[in-house]
Amino acid sequence: MRDGYDSAECSAALLRWYDGAARVLPWRVGPADRAAGVAPDPYRVWLSEIMLQQTTVAAVRAYFHRFTARWPDVQALAAAEESEVMAEWAGLGYYARARNLLACARAVAKAGGFPTDRDGLRALPGIGAYTSAAIAAIAYDHPECVVDGNVERVVARLFAVTDPLPGARRTLARLAESLTPRQRPGDYAQAMMDLGATVCTPRNPRCDECPLEGFCAARAAGIAASLPARAPKPPKPTRRGTAYVALRADGAPLLETRPAKGLLGGMPGWPGTDWSEAPTPAPPLDADWITLPGTVRHTFTHFHLDLSVALARVPQHATPARGAFRPDFTPDSLPTVMRKVWEHATTADLFAPPSKD
Ligand code: ADE
Repeated sequence: MRDGYDSAECSAALLRWYDGAARVLPWRVGPADRAAGVAPDPYRVWLSEIMLQQTTVAAVRAYFHRFTARWPDVQALAAAEESEVMAEWAGLGYYARARNLLACARAVAKAGGFPTDRDGLRALPGIGAYTSAAIAAIAYDHPECVVDGNVERVVARLFAVTDPLPGARRTLARLAESLTPRQRPGDYAQAMMDLGATVCTPRNPRCDECPLEGFCAARAAGIAASLPARAPKPPKPTRRGTAYVALRADGAPLLETRPAKGLLGGMPGWPGTDWSEAPTPAPPLDADWITLPGTVRHTFTHFHLDLSVALARVPQHATPARGAFRPDFTPDSLPTVMRKVWEHATTADLFAPPSKD
């Protein structure tokens, strides 16, 4: 923050901006309704925060609508089958979140409701430091300091913190704390998120439209767009593998459920090799496998994946070593990488020359 300004004025300016510019979001009680005494539904706040971890508002909206239409409250979600929840979550990524979501719903339903304080929330499955603060602030208007990537960016600019992330994280959290007001902390937390998402954006920040422009040390120094600085990340390695798509005579594909622990844990997927620099072939049954031309590329948090797709038609009585044929299969229930494999397999031009590997 620029010298001579104080944090109460700054947070008041942000709240005035939010009163006029708050995004309309399906889980949000807007500032006018909040002022009129409408309380947010903790179930919707919690569900949105879990979905929004690592994911954008744009990607979450449709999932949020489907979940709340199917499971309108925490008791309804608690009574769902894990496979139903995983299938609705398919495509959102980070699948441990979906399993924790159900475990959390069951714990909350059993306890008769959500805890209302940060520590109680944090003890639940899938709720960490950030999410417990966000729910306590947004659902219960507790003066918790909520720091996500958006807030780190806003604060780094406001105070012109040039130390790189992740090392600067504690400094930024302390500065964010110094700004959090006692009045309207829930609106304030959401105002910071909205400012980071719509004005104080990572690239080309719209400083001219910013309610905090006059407070912002990075703007005054002309360095807003370059902050926050980040330590260079090591490049992502590329791993390889083969996915085996076996189609039975009746068209049912062979799928397996991935182990509960690990990447895409608990989700359906094509039987495959390990994903590594030198994967070992591991077809799930003997068949005339055709390796399709091209590969499927997918990027996970820590690596790129290049998957070859092997395709085989197998007789109705085929007995695979692992997995099961799924006559009721729909590609919507697959995680994104597995859906890409299905698209690759079903659009393959089998008359193209076979690849040499
Ligand atoms: N990102 C994370 N939580 C959010 C929320 N409640 N509103 C808008 N964006 C968010």
